Amino acid sequence: MDGLLIFLRYCLKDGFDYKKGIALSHKKWYNTEVSKTVHKRVFITGVAGFLGSHLADAFIKKGWHVAGCDSLIGGYLDNVPEKVEFYQYDCTYLNSMRKILKGIDIVYHCAATAYEGFSVFSPHIVTKNIVDATVTVITAAIQNNVKRFVLCSSMARYGTNEVPFTEDMAPKPQDPYGIGKYATELMLRNLSETHGMEYVIAVPHNIIGPRQKYDDPYRNVASIMINLMLRKRQPIIYGDGQQKRCFSFVQDDISILEELGTSEAAVGEVVNIGPDKEFVTINQLAEVLARLLKFKLKPRYYPDRPNEVKFANCSADKARRLFGYNPTCDLETGLSEMISWIMSRGTKPFKYHLDIEIVNDKTPKTWKNKLF
Ligand SMILES: NC(=O)c1ccc[n+]([C@@H]2O[C@H](COP(=O)([O-])OP(=O)(O)OC[C@H]3O[C@@H](n4cnc5c(N)ncnc54)[C@H](O)[C@@H]3O)[C@@H](O)[C@H]2O)c1
Repeated sequence: MDGLLIFLRYCLKDGFDYKKGIALSHKKWYNTEVSKTVHKRVFITGVAGFLGSHLADAFIKKGWHVAGCDSLIGGYLDNVPEKVEFYQYDCTYLNSMRKILKGIDIVYHCAATAYEGFSVFSPHIVTKNIVDATVTVITAAIQNNVKRFVLCSSMARYGTNEVPFTEDMAPKPQDPYGIGKYATELMLRNLSETHGMEYVIAVPHNIIGPRQKYDDPYRNVASIMINLMLRKRQPIIYGDGQQKRCFSFVQDDISILEELGTSEAAVGEVVNIGPDKEFVTINQLAEVLARLLKFKLKPRYYPDRPNEVKFANCSADKARRLFGYNPTCDLETGLSEMISWIMSRGTKPFKYHLDIEIVNDKTPKTWKNKLF
């Protein structure tokens, strides 16, 4: 009722455009007096995926209207929270994206075929869903005067830089996935600056938690190991297993991602998302999981995958400084939650759902011979 009275007051004061059917001062009216009652609208691409679906939950909790799309090339349909206005659309279709981004305030672009090692052998499918998809969503966002665009890039942008990776380092990606991600950052910066859209570049790394795909042989080392061990099978480790990563739990990172969409301090920034403590080897990861699952561990070792970075971890200083980033969940707790979630859904056989485009003597046997 209050909203209606304010609306009528503005119509009398500023006139009414019958053709458009809105008060001429509509924007001002929306932004000021009733802003508390008007839902803001966020659109999340890749909303059936891991990060996208958790982000959707966070914005629903804040009372925002959440819409999103996913082609279901990855993710799980039942990850999509009930209150999401969901479209099973592929981000590479400009006309569809233009239509569904109407009236959106903020876009989070989480959709991607986020395969680093696999991109060396299937660069076409991986970069199509990274470069083409991102350029399409950016274009549709600009067509619809979206206020802010948050791009999920990846730690793969840093490639062969010295660890810990800081945001001011010149990117040195060394595989098609990382090169594609960095290309989308350049594209976002260029188009946003030209057309006046706010942009933010999030750089997530090694985030784990429930809803992560665990039947995909090409990605998500912790989820794959849990699925294998629960199926009474030994985990597969590439190289000597001494490569190091820094894992973080999804709930610790979602609030920072939220800030990137809403805080003024984030505009135009590149921000690493993930912790810089608990740096563990892949061997140690397998050991912790085996202990939690009471599993007798004897990993199967296979040759290194080409171009895999040995030590990869990011500095979280910037996220701490700008947004008070303070992760509280340790690795063991995070892994335990993943185990519970996978057990509640049931284990699954691995699905080789994407073609290997380049098959030669460098292609990992694990994929060529479907060893997972
Ligand atoms: N999770 C991490 O640790 C991590 C690390 C680095 C970067 N990232 C980036 O964060 C984003 C989200 O990652 P995630 O872990 O949630 O991945 P995810 O695979 O769980 O989710 C991505 C979703 O995008 C969808 N998708 C792919 N191509 C699409 C297209 N063309 N149109 C519509 N939907 C499409 C997939 O179906 C999937 O559901 C990705 O951009 C990824 O590169 C994540």
